[in-house]
Amino acid sequence: YPLDNLNTLRLPARAQWYAEPASTEALVALLREPRWRGVPRTVLGGGSNLVLAGDISGLVIRPMMRGLRELPGGLLEVQAGEEWDSVVARSIEAGWQGLENLSLIPGSAGAAPVQNIGAYGVELCHHLAGLEAVSLQNGQIHHFTAEQCDFGYRESRFKSAEPGQWLITRLQLRLNRAPVLQLGYADLSERFAALPESGRNAAGLRQVICQLRREKLPDPAALPNAGSFFKNPVVEAAHWAALRERFPAIVGYPQADGRVKLAAGWLIEQAGWKGRRHGPLGMHERQALVLVNHGGASGATVLAFAEAVRESVQTMFQVQLEQEPVTLGSPGQALQARRSS
Ligand code: EPU
Repeated sequence: YPLDNLNTLRLPARAQWYAEPASTEALVALLREPRWRGVPRTVLGGGSNLVLAGDISGLVIRPMMRGLRELPGGLLEVQAGEEWDSVVARSIEAGWQGLENLSLIPGSAGAAPVQNIGAYGVELCHHLAGLEAVSLQNGQIHHFTAEQCDFGYRESRFKSAEPGQWLITRLQLRLNRAPVLQLGYADLSERFAALPESGRNAAGLRQVICQLRREKLPDPAALPNAGSFFKNPVVEAAHWAALRERFPAIVGYPQADGRVKLAAGWLIEQAGWKGRRHGPLGMHERQALVLVNHGGASGATVLAFAEAVRESVQTMFQVQLEQEPVTLGSPGQALQARRSS
């Protein structure tokens, strides 16, 4: 089954088998079918935070459960197959506040907790009360509180500690009725303040965020990409002090623990990669942190290109960049080998 159109970097890859369960019941039944016993299972969300390094052997499952409903106690329950940005839009229309800073992030709702999506000072974990997930091994349904998800910066147990073990089926979001807008980013507060007074609400802030993102970030439908390709690295205070001496313009944000989070985009730009192309691949001309596929790249070339960027930054700043999107699949003949065995 071709996955080329199911990943926003538009990398060519196939799944050995593919299923789109539209309900939790259908998913559990699928996982328990005797024919899939012992077959590896892989979850695919919106494909927007993904590097497909090659074909995926076994069963690829794309959850397609739909729906939003209000639960008692100020909770909004969202099914995994909903498109994230549509959840944000509909929650604001229904009079909820809290998700506006997470506007226009591509991908599905079910994938949002995996990397704890975040933007403009808000992370999903600030609004997640809990979630339901199904064990890919035995089809058992499990409830996780937010605490049990081990959220961190672009991290969760589903991404790091237990990758490939769970399929998230629904989220319970805790939102507000009263306006508590997060305007901590300079660009944001300025543009928001320029809105007419009647528009200074969650819907207005959503518009401002959409505008900001459209200006900086390439639309994956027009220029394939997976958003920020690296995390913003966090360095010790002493390393920061040394870097600042050598590079007075370096951009960093002090953290509560005394360490400093560096703007990876700045490091990559200084290392000369902004807007630079190698064949079909490049770092974006307006946001050096976004790796773009101008057409025809493969997973293996993406990983090699990213490695070259990482090495430049390491040499210049002694800072190690960590890849942000998840890598799935393996190059070579994984599919052929399994098929003929
Ligand atoms: N910068 C440069 N050159 C560049 C890009 C950035 O010098 O080419 C410097 C600028 O000084 C800029 C600073 O880096 O002020 C920060 O850039 P930006 O505000 O664009 O944010 P970011 O740190 O690059 C992070 C998230 C984004 C999120 C934005 C806004 C990560 C890995 N990325 O990017 O998330 O939208 O902040 O909150 O944390 C994503 O994860 O896919 C993503 C797009």
